[in-house]
Amino acid sequence: MTQYFDVGAIRKLFPAAEKIVYLDSGFQTPMSQPVKAALESFVAESYESAGPKSLWIERMERARAKAAALFNAAATEIAFTKNTSESMNIAANALPLKSGDNVLMIHGDHPNNTYAFLNLKRKGVEVRFIPMAEAVTAESFLPHIDARTRAISMSCVTFHAGHRFDIEGIGRLCREKNLYYVLDAMQAIGVTPIDAKKLGAAFIGCGTHKGLLVPQGLGLLYWNSKLTELEPAYLAAISLADPPADLVARPNDMAFAPTAIRFEIGNYNLPATQALGAALDLIESVGVGNIEAHCFGLGDRLIAGLDELGIGLVGPRARHLRAPHIYVAAIAAAEWVAYFESRNIRVSPERDGVRISLGMFNTEADIDALLAAIRAHGRAARAS
Ligand SMILES: Cc1ncc(COP(=O)(O)O)c(C=O)c1O
Repeated sequence: MTQYFDVGAIRKLFPAAEKIVYLDSGFQTPMSQPVKAALESFVAESYESAGPKSLWIERMERARAKAAALFNAAATEIAFTKNTSESMNIAANALPLKSGDNVLMIHGDHPNNTYAFLNLKRKGVEVRFIPMAEAVTAESFLPHIDARTRAISMSCVTFHAGHRFDIEGIGRLCREKNLYYVLDAMQAIGVTPIDAKKLGAAFIGCGTHKGLLVPQGLGLLYWNSKLTELEPAYLAAISLADPPADLVARPNDMAFAPTAIRFEIGNYNLPATQALGAALDLIESVGVGNIEAHCFGLGDRLIAGLDELGIGLVGPRARHLRAPHIYVAAIAAAEWVAYFESRNIRVSPERDGVRISLGMFNTEADIDALLAAIRAHGRAARAS
């Protein structure tokens, strides 16, 4: 298999991956050494000096700029949030939607995005679902658009089968039809390149505990800052263009910040932002394109192995339709996940099988260990 980077050296930075056959990055990634070091620095600084907040904020702003580069966006277009759900809720509630308007989504896409939009029912906004399919393209949405359609929202990569839909083509359709385009990049970010400008997205939301290698509790929201009509539903002093220096709220001066900070409220998850800075340095040192190519190579090996064993793949197999790192084997999760656990292999149950998901630290040996475990189980089943 082609070596796109020094996988052996990277793997050493993820000690858990040396102890477990870790094939579950679609759930969460194990902590890396640089992230641990960043968190330990935060704890030491906090413990020993009662907190150099200005230094933490300075580092947080550097992490914001690095995160922006990942979206091909400006730092002023990135807000920190708590997770994907919060990002998608902020986005859904910022769209200027009125009663009778509708939003198109894909049936069975991730519920944390879907509920954010379903909750707009309170305003009389309808969510219309198009069917989930192996390939979802602009043509899939086109017949569902009517005079009251205002937005399309969907995942870049599906969590349950690793589809990678034609998000660029759908973005072009949104521009043609003047629709807001809102994307959930949780499964894509850090593993596949995301170009907010090329996509023409209004908002892109994600958490950071998968491809961005940070523990749970920090999210990101990209906002196209040209769309100044998109306003925050929640407000705190920090969200304002000119927060009151004396901390006395001024009812007549509530202009929103011209940057994505308009969508931020209150204090930040500072330890996680320090961790994000370290994680983004690591990701940049490897390169998202290289992580993608590496995962595709491992995915090819996995698909070939499953084929040999006569096990179906739930999602798409063609590279242009599939995510590089998410594969669902059509075997019963209820039987197999516990078996894999007993063989020290970590995977996730999914709605149609067992999800095998990859990260930059995985190797061919991990794939081979999984395939060997399947073979051994088959042999044991035949022997009994
Ligand atoms: C596509 C997608 N969106 C959202 C989430 C999670 O949402 P949150 O970050 O709010 O926990 C996941 C998985 O955890 C996901 O796969």
